[in-house]
Amino acid sequence: MKFQTLKIPIDVFASDLVIYVYSAEKTGKKQFKPGLNLTTNLNNILQQSFALDNFKDEKSKINLFNFPESQIPRLLICKIDTTEGNIIEEVRKNAGDIYSRLKGLHIKNCHIVSQMSDVSEQNFIEALMEGFLLKNYKYSDLKKSSEKSDKVIIGKIIFLLSEKTENAGVKKNIKTTEAVIEGVNFARYLGDTPGNMLTPIRFVREIQKRFKDNKAISFKILNESDIKKLKMNAFLAVARGSKEPPRLIILQYHSNNKKAKNLLLVGKGITFDSGGISIKPAAQMEEMKYDMCGAAAVAGVFDVAGRINPDVNITGIIPAAENLPDASAFKPGDVVKAYNGKTIEIINTDAEGRLILADALAYGISKYHPDWVVDLATLTGSVVVALGSHASGLFSNHRQLSDLLITAGKQSGERVWELPLWDDYKKDLESEIADIKNLGGRDAGSISAAKFLQEFVGDVPWAHLDIAGTAYGRKHVPYLGKGASGVGVRLLVALLGMLKSNPNSPKRGPSDKI
Ligand code: BES
Ligand code: MN
Ligand code: ZN
Repeated sequence: MKFQTLKIPIDVFASDLVIYVYSAEKTGKKQFKPGLNLTTNLNNILQQSFALDNFKDEKSKINLFNFPESQIPRLLICKIDTTEGNIIEEVRKNAGDIYSRLKGLHIKNCHIVSQMSDVSEQNFIEALMEGFLLKNYKYSDLKKSSEKSDKVIIGKIIFLLSEKTENAGVKKNIKTTEAVIEGVNFARYLGDTPGNMLTPIRFVREIQKRFKDNKAISFKILNESDIKKLKMNAFLAVARGSKEPPRLIILQYHSNNKKAKNLLLVGKGITFDSGGISIKPAAQMEEMKYDMCGAAAVAGVFDVAGRINPDVNITGIIPAAENLPDASAFKPGDVVKAYNGKTIEIINTDAEGRLILADALAYGISKYHPDWVVDLATLTGSVVVALGSHASGLFSNHRQLSDLLITAGKQSGERVWELPLWDDYKKDLESEIADIKNLGGRDAGSISAAKFLQEFVGDVPWAHLDIAGTAYGRKHVPYLGKGASGVGVRLLVALLGMLKSNPNSPKRGPSDKI
């Protein structure tokens, strides 16, 4: 799928498929304004189609018309309801639906004309591309090629721009959007890869393969004995029950800007979570291959950073391990001493994510002195109970950073919803014999998990994203599917844009504290 632009009017006009997208008026009535200076050909076809169909009374609608004898043999008309919600997100969703509608078709060139109110042509193009490119992803490595896909094959997609839109800006945006979705789809690919094929060591290999030729990105891999030397005992405890040894993956992106601030990203990389000795029930346990989606999002952000060169230095830390029960596995009742010296009483080996993140966060903060820290993790089933799959849980010790993430969530469509981090919840984690225990009470499970993490970050501006409900299985989102969603990548790329453009980027300081 290649994306191009053309300014209208165009003299000679022929196209395999024209897609015409317009926004519905507030009344929801049909609205056709041939106000654009379209070619006669296109105008005629549009008029005919509108006459053929009645778009009345439905808020959103997609219709595909065939004109076999014409120079425009297919015309798809899409009406988008702009009266409620997030219009940009509506465009992404409609793009996903349009894509599904074109299933099985082979189209050489497709032209897209839009007449949208309340959305700039730039933003429209970006959202439409996102919808198409995200829907175009399919994890098909393991299927026979003949069964591989019901993909739509579109050679070129040409956006017809009105005179007021500057072509150069759109072209640049197209490149950026392509880069972002490459990164998202890389994260999805990692997420969808089965647990036996994406062990910690194989995760490392994927990272090496992806980033070895990228000059802006460097990486360092720590093996089990390196991790032992660092005394990351909480992380090691989790890894002990598996034959697959753990790895700590450290990624760095260096911006060209000398004044750039430092962002630390930490992603939970449990390549399979059986629960360990506190073993999980069998139902849906296969989904626990997705327990590394936080790590995948971090990898995805680096993939994007390596292509778009943001003005922010980024360090990424991925603790990768498998959580399995065997003779050497860690057990409920054990006590381990974390990297920062705190002792942790293990109550439940299935609360393993917070253990590996505790060490990775404490290590990353003490070693790299970041200005801001964000971690991503499929951390708790409890956040799924609270928010379902429509938003990731956000927890932060820093008002400004969390506001930026909320805005980034609205922009990207990867919504976050803030939950509190009051100290009252910390009581749940008090242990009789150690500094803290790894399990809170029955209630507010995602908050006590976040509270646990907070014990390992000190007072650096930090935000934790619990993506257990949003990382996979979002088939109700028209531009996604059942598998991994790559959630976090577009959200954090939006945040990167804000951190560099925001003159009061989050600073440490008591007044900023929540
Ligand atoms: N990986 C799971 C959380 C999870 C649940 C992710 C559902 C995706 C979908 C995590 O390690 C876990 O097992 N959490 C436990 C914590 C509990 C033992 C305190 C949970 O949420 O049940
Ligand atoms: Mn678990
Ligand atoms: Zn887990």
